[in-house]
Amino acid sequence: MNKPKVLVTRRWPQAVEARMAANFDVDLNQADKPLTEADFREAMTRYDAILPTVTDRLPATVFEAGTPRTRILANYGVGFSHIDTEAARARGIAVTNTPDVLSECTADIAMTLMLMVARRAGEGERELREGRWSGWRPTHLIGTKVSGATLGIIGFGRIGQAMAQRAHFGFGMKILVQNRSAVAPEVLARYNAVQVPTIEDLLPQCDFVSLHCPGGAANRHLINARRLDLMKPTAFLINTARGEVVDEHALAQSLWFGTIAGAGLDVFEREPAIPDALLHADNLVLLPHLGSATRETREAMGFRVLENLTAFFEGREPQDRVA
Ligand code: DGY
Repeated sequence: MNKPKVLVTRRWPQAVEARMAANFDVDLNQADKPLTEADFREAMTRYDAILPTVTDRLPATVFEAGTPRTRILANYGVGFSHIDTEAARARGIAVTNTPDVLSECTADIAMTLMLMVARRAGEGERELREGRWSGWRPTHLIGTKVSGATLGIIGFGRIGQAMAQRAHFGFGMKILVQNRSAVAPEVLARYNAVQVPTIEDLLPQCDFVSLHCPGGAANRHLINARRLDLMKPTAFLINTARGEVVDEHALAQSLWFGTIAGAGLDVFEREPAIPDALLHADNLVLLPHLGSATRETREAMGFRVLENLTAFFEGREPQDRVA
């Protein structure tokens, strides 16, 4: 039997690319250049499987051309709001993602941002590298204590829970949770967490708010000007979920006018473009979408895609099917 023809849209860890080439008829993107919508339309007619990732846009228009050859989009990453899953479903194309394997590293990056912004680590490093440090003094770069503070987690799936694990057991933080559905009491009990009904209930009570909900149209600008105004002026916002969840314009206003104390962002609305108002805000820590960026996790994500692909082409249900 011919091996399924597979397109990988970006460079992947070498170990995964090698294993994939052994099992599938693979075209790799050697140049690592993002594909255009037109490239995707064409690829749909030539490949049995396409392996996209967060930098690829697959809106409904990509699925409109003739009868597709593609039967599965095996996404490299847990978030899939860049794929119009309804349009894929309508064409009979399966979609899978890679949950679990990146929860710990993504929560690690959320902790990194929280500690950096609270302890003014970015400001301190900039000062030191630019030769502006005049030495220790009792009033220098005074930050906010993280240990024992209250953390609000919006979205209590795997990554939200990994965040609670770190914050509660590592830093003795009190955990409040807001989630679309009711979280099982035994899960909340694990972190001594309390679920509140709405985001409006959560925000005014927190010293830190960390976003771990999905992106996509339903959560676009979930954190807007009105909700930012509900946060304490001493509180910090952390986003490692998806850029579109936060209204960047409203956040920039809150940071510049000091209606919140600071923020840490790993994701942005129009990556890799960052609005100037954010770039120049000193009370903001910015990272270039590093949540899952460890060798261990990026390899695990790739192998998870391979498991999904293999199951699909062997006629089994892929474990991570989302459409
Ligand atoms: C994801 O998996 O959705 C991340 O944003 C990229 O690792």
